[in-house]
Amino acid sequence: MCGIVGYLGPRDPKEVIINGLKKLEYRGYDSAGVAIFDGPSVKRIRAEGKLKNLELCLMNEKFSGHLGIGHTRWATHGVPSVRNAHPHQAGGISLVHNGIIENYLEIREELLKRKADITSDTDSELVAHLISEEVEKSKDLFQSVKNVLARLRGAFSILVIWDQEPDRLLAFKDGPPLVVGLGEKETFVVSDVQAALQYTKKFIYLDDRQIVSVKGTQLDIFDAEGNAVAQKIQELNWSSEQVEKQGYSHFMLKEIYEQPMAVSAAMAPHIDSETHAIRLAKVGFGKSSHDVETLDVAEDWKNTQKVLSEIERIVIVACGTSYYSGLVGKYYFEQLARIPVEVDVASEYRYRKPVILPKTLLITISQSGETADTLAAIRMAKEMGATTLSICNVKNSTIDREAHGHLYMNSGPEIGVASTKAFTSTLTVLNCLSLALGKIKGKLSAKAEQEQTQALLKLPSQMEVALAYDKYFSDAAEELKKFKGFLYLGRGVSYPIALEGALKLKELAYYHAEGYAAGEMKHGPLALIDENMAVVVVAPSDDLLEKTVSNLEEAKARGGKIISVGSGDNHRLKSVSSRYLPMPVAHWSTNPVISVVPLQLMAFHLANSLGHDVDQPRNLAKSVTVE
Ligand code: M6R
Repeated sequence: MCGIVGYLGPRDPKEVIINGLKKLEYRGYDSAGVAIFDGPSVKRIRAEGKLKNLELCLMNEKFSGHLGIGHTRWATHGVPSVRNAHPHQAGGISLVHNGIIENYLEIREELLKRKADITSDTDSELVAHLISEEVEKSKDLFQSVKNVLARLRGAFSILVIWDQEPDRLLAFKDGPPLVVGLGEKETFVVSDVQAALQYTKKFIYLDDRQIVSVKGTQLDIFDAEGNAVAQKIQELNWSSEQVEKQGYSHFMLKEIYEQPMAVSAAMAPHIDSETHAIRLAKVGFGKSSHDVETLDVAEDWKNTQKVLSEIERIVIVACGTSYYSGLVGKYYFEQLARIPVEVDVASEYRYRKPVILPKTLLITISQSGETADTLAAIRMAKEMGATTLSICNVKNSTIDREAHGHLYMNSGPEIGVASTKAFTSTLTVLNCLSLALGKIKGKLSAKAEQEQTQALLKLPSQMEVALAYDKYFSDAAEELKKFKGFLYLGRGVSYPIALEGALKLKELAYYHAEGYAAGEMKHGPLALIDENMAVVVVAPSDDLLEKTVSNLEEAKARGGKIISVGSGDNHRLKSVSSRYLPMPVAHWSTNPVISVVPLQLMAFHLANSLGHDVDQPRNLAKSVTVE
């Protein structure tokens, strides 16, 4: 969490840093600050709250230098306040930090014994003191940073400037992402490419325990021992417009509307455009994520088939919305490829000493590709001998780089903290992957394969129909606000959609909402039902519909108000519902992708009508890079 930006070059550093921080605000938004050279000294300005508060403080500030660093914070150590805001300073050192220093208590004690003037409650400030002490003695910033790096435990990305060197930026990382953007005689060091995308498309993704030194226009990257390492430059095809709202009121709304396009982009590489047969493209098992673009599709498909033919079981590990997409994936893999699947939350999986049997494929799902627990899970599984495959949105993110095989959501940048298009794109990728596995394992007939791919190809236009519920929920929001709680129900493949619907409402509207398997109602949740409880049910016309309707009758008999997302003109479901939302009639495997759309719109409009910040809900950050 937290976003960091460093800039050295001919532009106005204040402008570059603020523009960059705006793009990183999704990572944290409880305070922000900059430290920029002004003449021979470094001027620091910080503000509590969102970035716009810092912008106000900076309005009349001018900086004559060409080097600066900035930070937008998601508090870990110390409450959100100006004194805990970054950059932190000690001696001539200014520093911004994303992550956690685990051995901060011992460092703090040691510094206090040496009478260091510690002014905040953060772990980050302590690093500034350590570097300051070192540089006082050695007068060598690189050497000082290298020595301090050796002392730190935890997960961190850090940018450092020193008031004695107005043309030198140092950065080092161990854990949270850090990327170097390369411009014409200018360098950006940022948490996420989005922060520099308007200036350059050329980036170097740093590996752990690397140190970056930028001196004027000279860029060098070293390992923790000080040996120079090769610089692998990647050219991105994301445009800077993609990270703007483009006329929408919110990023989330824009991203909801982008879903038909996003699911098309997710399936396109894996469905042969002429024969409509499934063949996974450029998975690159055994290849670096940096090289997958250059692979030959036919050759790579042969390799993928070889690898996947060996697989006898699947474990899916992820967090939050990505975890729910994994739960849908379980239905896909079991039904279409007849392979046993286990799905786990990464923070549980990594600590429960799981048994990884031979011939296991461990799939991690992560929009950002940086989620700390998911990353730890993939590392552990690799060590235990699993073949790993990542499904990420951000190419060359840490999880993507660490996996043996690589699949992409292809959703384009997702900025809203609540995940929407990454979820539906992931379901689409999982559908393609399970079809490929079914085919490789001989479980999928040619007829079924055609039926499935036809269903996928129809999906974008069916999602357009679901998007028409935007106006419906904008009108319904006032009435829906009156409920005290929301119970989301579903069965089979719709059960994870109920969980996802409840999560969207919790994180955006701050209502108590729970997702349940409809068949579990009588085992407890039925006691919650009264006229203040809305029951939102996802019940497309599939072979479980009758059972779900019986559960709804029981809820209705106890005063519950039923809002149902069904498919087609389903009289039975309509008759038990206060509100019935028909979706297009679709294939069982694509129903979840369609029925989640009205749930996203409902959460969006409820939150918006309550005056909540939909794109940046309280207490959250988009990329959870600390445990
Ligand atoms: O980047 P990831 O997909 O790994 O993120 C996982 C979760 O943090 C994320 O899905 C979170 O639950 C979203 N805020 C949900 O909308």
